[in-house]
Amino acid sequence: MLEVTARSREIPLESLRDGLTFLTEYGDRFHHRRENELFDRLRRIGMGHGERPCAAMERDHDWGRELIRTMQDIADRATPGDLSAARNLVHLGLDYVQHQRQHIEKEDRILFPLITELLPASEDGRILAAFEHIEATLAPRSTTELIDLALDLQGVFGPLESLPSRRA
Ligand SMILES: [Fe+2]
Repeated sequence: MLEVTARSREIPLESLRDGLTFLTEYGDRFHHRRENELFDRLRRIGMGHGERPCAAMERDHDWGRELIRTMQDIADRATPGDLSAARNLVHLGLDYVQHQRQHIEKEDRILFPLITELLPASEDGRILAAFEHIEATLAPRSTTELIDLALDLQGVFGPLESLPSRRA
């Protein structure tokens, strides 16, 4: 997405806005809401052991949200030929990618092992039910619609990693 924007003489604004919508609605509202569910349980059951990692992950989420908001502001004000806006979007987009990679690495290295250690298996059913409730109340779009949106973006920006196939 960023490579296409950097190479283009005209910013693919509509597609970029769709990409930012995907990041907001799927990445932030959906993925982070599920993580918040885990944070709440860790705080309750972990009796304080999970506090620092949870707070660090929440700060990461806040910073990612701020980067997305800034990119949305630029994309909303930009015109297709505004190369200064394109440069800013690419610069912020690269910051976002780096931030997310570091965040995911922290989740894999610190958060998930902590969850495995502190949350008993008896919690699994309740956590799954909470995740299903979050997915069912995801607004304004369903997970299927968001995956379709991401698949459509592949037509503009090329193949995206880790994307499930379109559902019937
Ligand atoms: Fe996260």
